[in-house]
Amino acid sequence: MTQGILLVGGMGTRLLPLTRSVPKPMLPIAGLPVTEHQLMAAKDAGITSIVLAASYLSEVFIPYFGDGSRWGIHLQYAVETEPLGTGGAIRNAAKFLNGLENIAIFNGDVLSSHNLAKQIEMHESRDADVTLHLTEVSDARAYGCVSTGKDGRVSAFNEKMENPIANTINAGCYIFNPRVLLDIPVEQVVSIERDIFPQLIESRRKIYGYIDRSYWIDIGTPQTLLQGSSDLVAGTSRSAALDSLNLDRHMGDYLAMEGSIISPSAQLSGGTSVCRGASIGDGAKMEGSIISSNAIVLRNVTLTKCFVAEGATVDSGSHLSHAYVGRDGVTALIA
Ligand code: GDD
Ligand code: MG
Repeated sequence: MTQGILLVGGMGTRLLPLTRSVPKPMLPIAGLPVTEHQLMAAKDAGITSIVLAASYLSEVFIPYFGDGSRWGIHLQYAVETEPLGTGGAIRNAAKFLNGLENIAIFNGDVLSSHNLAKQIEMHESRDADVTLHLTEVSDARAYGCVSTGKDGRVSAFNEKMENPIANTINAGCYIFNPRVLLDIPVEQVVSIERDIFPQLIESRRKIYGYIDRSYWIDIGTPQTLLQGSSDLVAGTSRSAALDSLNLDRHMGDYLAMEGSIISPSAQLSGGTSVCRGASIGDGAKMEGSIISSNAIVLRNVTLTKCFVAEGATVDSGSHLSHAYVGRDGVTALIA
């Protein structure tokens, strides 16, 4: 199986103002866009033809990823003029794929070390309609809560329940048999989680859960975005996209991309990452922060768990904690 869809069209509302001009999947995690980490993880499992299902700020993806050849992936773009929801987006993107092979589908804001090859194997061996990656969290309220029977068959899917009936959640990676696409209406706003999965379960289709509790994070809030980034820098999690760059991780304290400049008197820790073209001035102390491309951090700045946007400047002597620094000023990062 070689084909996939990456859902990258959401508004990223919980990440505002970070997502005002950069779509969530293009935000830098450990120096690279979230999408780049996901594409390389998919490629590792043999998926080399991928459609990006984009909508909000769709124009940002193409200049960076192009046709994907730099990554050894065949990339295509399915752009929704009005967001079609997760189900509508899948149906729309599938037009670019062949109707014979299974399709791997990914939420575009997840970093996961689960064994995708094994998930595909389980799907194929059971001739399933859909096989969902499931993981466990302590509080399932913000996720799709999934119940399974002894054989792994999904018996219930409840998106964002007030009182979750299980800690097992939808981890946002599905293998679809292409026959399932016929169950999704064309060119309509449909949610895969709220509309399609419950319908498929109701009509006794073969929906299975592949439980894998490896490292997993949804980077959809400022806290989890910073966490996902620092975990990669610290080596708590790994990414094929970073492995192929052969970067010096500075003992897990920080990561500096090629083309960044860091003053020898700066102290970077807690999994801070500095993107291409950024510069860090004398006496800076930065912990668990993300510095986007071409940002400038002037002298004697202290940053704790901050996000500095592309091309933004942090004024000298600033002491900031849990803040977003954009081109037009500083905002607090809200949980
Ligand atoms: N193309 C397109 N069009 N993509 C969309 C649209 C749309 O209309 N709406 C959402 N997406 C994309 C987002 O960009 C994101 O990558 C993915 O679909 C999931 O949307 P989120 O907004 O991040 O959903 P969530 O985090 O609240 O919940 C989802 O993920 C959880 C795991 O992180 C659900 O799938 C839950 O069931 C799941 O537990
Ligand atoms: Mg999400």
